[in-house]
Amino acid sequence: MYQRLDLEVWDGDQPIPREELLRRVPGKQGIICLLTEKIDSQVLDAAGSSLKVVSTISVGTDHIDLEAAKARGIKVGYTPGVLTDAVAELTLGLTLATARCFFRSHCEIRSGGWEKSTWSPLKMYGKLLQGSTVGIVGLGRIGFALLKRLKAFQVKDILFTARSPKPHGEAEGGKEVRFEELLQKSDFVICTCALTPETQGMFDKTAFHLMKSSVVFINISRGGLVNQDDLVEALKGGEIWGAGLDVMTPEPLPHDHPLLQLANCTVIPHIGSATEKTRLDMARLAAENLIAGIKGTSMPAQLL
Ligand code: GLV
Ligand code: GLV
Repeated sequence: MYQRLDLEVWDGDQPIPREELLRRVPGKQGIICLLTEKIDSQVLDAAGSSLKVVSTISVGTDHIDLEAAKARGIKVGYTPGVLTDAVAELTLGLTLATARCFFRSHCEIRSGGWEKSTWSPLKMYGKLLQGSTVGIVGLGRIGFALLKRLKAFQVKDILFTARSPKPHGEAEGGKEVRFEELLQKSDFVICTCALTPETQGMFDKTAFHLMKSSVVFINISRGGLVNQDDLVEALKGGEIWGAGLDVMTPEPLPHDHPLLQLANCTVIPHIGSATEKTRLDMARLAAENLIAGIKGTSMPAQLL
């Protein structure tokens, strides 16, 4: 890789500080970034007219100001496809872990709670996927991979919403419905859609109110899709049964955040694509996007 490009690498454990990023980008032809870097017009302007491509090692691109990139003729690459299976597996895992109280159970044993009780018929009552209605909000690549996996769990119905027609979703046995209908009918509401200005805060008080009080709500996309204060209230007030989150606001989430005080909320630290193979595939694809973007050849995964 070093033979083809002059690379300046930030190799700190923490994301590159903003000032450092702004100081380093001038004159660069390409930027390879993570979702922790906000690539806005200030960064693009600091880079100047040499900049041809921004390549992010992520499928989400909400940290990049796409309008600003477009206006400046800067290409944007991302990493769809290679992480679909890893995220779909994680989503299923988080759904089961939330529905069956894995983390609460583990914490109870660790804190000595189990020694003070025993096996009991009502202990750690959870929810069954089999026979349930599952709603997938956003039938993109990840949503579709999840749909196929859910069939193996013999769920009753799979409902989904989508921005564009998804005949393959229907062909696999899913049913496209309106967002409100999905919320009202689902025993599990699983959010896999992208964060855009239209989807920002779509899971709010009104949405939680429409859901069943027995619902398990899962979010693996972006924290910004959820009005988190409304979620905390819904969980506290028993308006929904439980939530499992791989994403939240802010990230990292402070250890004393209200979400972490709730027994019916399972939180994991944005690890959807975190398997060795997946991360290597993502890194490779992002590098190929970067090189092609600089050379002016066709990028393997170009968003803009
Ligand atoms: C992770 O959240 C990604 O967008 O790849
Ligand atoms: C549970 O372990 C059972 O035997 O039903």
